[in-house]
Amino acid sequence: MAAMHRPVYESRLRALVQLILPHLREGDRVLDVGCGVGTLGTALMGASGAPKDLVVEGLERHVRGGEPITVHGYEGGRMPFADGAYDVVILADVLHHEDNPDELLSECLRVAGRSLIIKDHQIKGPLAQARVSFIDWAANAPYGVKCLYRYHTRDEWQAMAKRMGAKVVAEHQSIKLYPMGVNFVFGNKLQYLAVWQPPAGAGVSAQATPEEDPAS
Ligand SMILES: C[S@@+](CC[C@H](N)C(=O)[O-])C[C@H]1O[C@@H](n2cnc3c(N)ncnc32)[C@H](O)[C@@H]1O
Repeated sequence: MAAMHRPVYESRLRALVQLILPHLREGDRVLDVGCGVGTLGTALMGASGAPKDLVVEGLERHVRGGEPITVHGYEGGRMPFADGAYDVVILADVLHHEDNPDELLSECLRVAGRSLIIKDHQIKGPLAQARVSFIDWAANAPYGVKCLYRYHTRDEWQAMAKRMGAKVVAEHQSIKLYPMGVNFVFGNKLQYLAVWQPPAGAGVSAQATPEEDPAS
């Protein structure tokens, strides 16, 4: 199963690095919440074009041990960090596994000084719920990660940002995440990435610049 996952996982990693890097700056401290085994953080720091002195740490409910980045453990709820402790917080395919998404988002926005980058799914197109549920199950069930099968439309993502007091400063509503055939069925419009600017008072340290979504 792991051998079947590898090309899909590596393609996903490359695509995420390309989407996230433009939002990172020299000297940034980044927290990857729900970092798993820490591969995204390692890939970001090692990428050609990575900003100088970039540091990515992880925060996990389930620390595996032996990760290539520093990973902080916690049991959920309040994160063990001060307001704005990190410049950027990343939530990559974590929110749809979380029983209390509003609490997790609120904590991410509190800890993020400049940006919260959310990669998740989007319900759009024929049989979207069934297709996303299948890829979620296939990617997570072998590793014992609980699936709740709760995903959002673009309107729901926008409403969520508004409810949390965050401003959407960049958004990708279609992502070529996987190798071609897999991407046709499980990628593109089922994949979503947004960059939120935390509300004033939640630790904003820099002005984000609104940008166009080249994919929409
Ligand atoms: C599908 S995996 C994604 C791993 C990694 N972000 C990636 O993109 O490869 C979801 C991870 O989120 C973690 N997780 C779920 N809820 C969490 C929370 N509230 N805080 C931190 N980690 C959480 C799980 O333990 C799991 O490792």
